[in-house]
Amino acid sequence: MPVTCVVGLQWGDEAKGKIVDLLTEQHDIVVRYQGGSNAGHTVVFEGESYKLSLVPSGIFRPDVQCVVAGGVVMNPQSLLGEIDGLTERGIKVSDNLMVSDRAHVVFPWHMEEDRLIESRKTGEEAIGTTLRGIGPCYRDKVGRSFAVRMGDMYRPGFEQHIKDIVEAKRQILAGLGGGGADDMKLDADAIYKEYSGYAHRLKPYVTDTTAYLLNAVEADKRILFEGAQGALLDIDHGTFPYVTSSNSSGVGVSSGSGVPGRYLTKVVGILKAYTTRVGGGPFPTEQDNEIGQHIRDKGNEYGTVTKRPRRCGWFDAVAARYTARLSGVDVLSVMLLDVLSELPEIKVCTAYEIDGKRVTDFPSHVDDLRRVVPVYETLPGWQKDITGVRKMADLPQLACDYLQEISRVVGRPVAIASVGPDRTQTIMAE
Ligand code: GDP
Ligand code: IMO
Ligand code: MG
Repeated sequence: MPVTCVVGLQWGDEAKGKIVDLLTEQHDIVVRYQGGSNAGHTVVFEGESYKLSLVPSGIFRPDVQCVVAGGVVMNPQSLLGEIDGLTERGIKVSDNLMVSDRAHVVFPWHMEEDRLIESRKTGEEAIGTTLRGIGPCYRDKVGRSFAVRMGDMYRPGFEQHIKDIVEAKRQILAGLGGGGADDMKLDADAIYKEYSGYAHRLKPYVTDTTAYLLNAVEADKRILFEGAQGALLDIDHGTFPYVTSSNSSGVGVSSGSGVPGRYLTKVVGILKAYTTRVGGGPFPTEQDNEIGQHIRDKGNEYGTVTKRPRRCGWFDAVAARYTARLSGVDVLSVMLLDVLSELPEIKVCTAYEIDGKRVTDFPSHVDDLRRVVPVYETLPGWQKDITGVRKMADLPQLACDYLQEISRVVGRPVAIASVGPDRTQTIMAE
């Protein structure tokens, strides 16, 4: 039975949502296992476009069970907003959604901490976070003392725990230069009331998802894991410190969901046909010029969550080969191929040069990554509209050659190519 993982191999926004939605048809359960409302996954079908942050992208198939596992940091207000928004649009969200009682809860102080810490950094130093409180919530999870998990909100100690945390957070935030003691955001009673309300509304969804998923794999259920962010943003293996605070490469599946990696039967690595990054940090193949702007315009490369313009550049095979290996990828899905259709020439970075030396291993330190000079090969563009193509055989030969080249340099076969945002604008390799 397939136990599949969909994971982004770049810096996020590779169009994971589209592929998860497509693959959901062949699965019984879809699981988000890390990240939080920093994610923005887009699903487009039947003329409608949906943006999902916390709800798994499998939600559009009502007979499929969607699970938000314990590795996710949960902003209950965001989740409720999403549930309401989907319900209003006629999408079923009831017993087909489960939320882990182990998921850590994002509070207003996390957002405030995110903002204060980001605002202390200038220029190149800033991580450029989504300001959703993701890093501070994961920090509190690891630190334990100030952490609240979903399941804690239903326990008698919840009110006192909030009071204790607020007392400490007032001092911490004041130390960071923010919010006076009377700041409304740090009113323990108000926060307790607000979160008790969220907890009440979310109660039907909250359960032990680890037990559920372990039973499911043992019962040979077909499970699809939906990665958020991308492997280059992985806290341990990405471009630290310009990363997110979770294991967003394939290595995060087991820690985030509780399902051992040995059950995975297939890992699908999602790649754009070029590269984008939103936020700070080095980006060797960035094209801060008219080519980058052309890609941004054609690909509508503006952040789903923060609306920030995404930085755009050529396909980086050094990075993609690294993340494909790191994530145990079996096959690739190459997205947004149509965005490159007008370009007469397309470049692919196949190696880096550091101090005149050629390297093909992705540097472990961000200072070295900043210094690399990309080595490019140049391929001819196909210069034809491909948005109506549905079969590999109908793609222009030069577009097929480009996919072949990506496959060669990354070292994995291309199983899927995407030529537009809609569910139907997808080409499956035979
Ligand atoms: P995710 O976070 O990985 O799910 O990706 P996002 O949803 O943040 O960004 C991907 C964007 O590309 C969305 O707006 C999608 O609707 C869009 N998209 C997906 N596949 C294609 C494609 O093949 N071509 C084009 N032009 N757009 C696509
Ligand atoms: P999806 O799932 C793209 C980036 C932010 C920032 C860094 C840290 O839609 O692909 P954080 O708020 O997580 O502390 O920000 O990570 N980032 C993403 N970039 N797609 C995402 O999610 C992202 N989630 C976080 O821009 O550079
Ligand atoms: Mg996104």
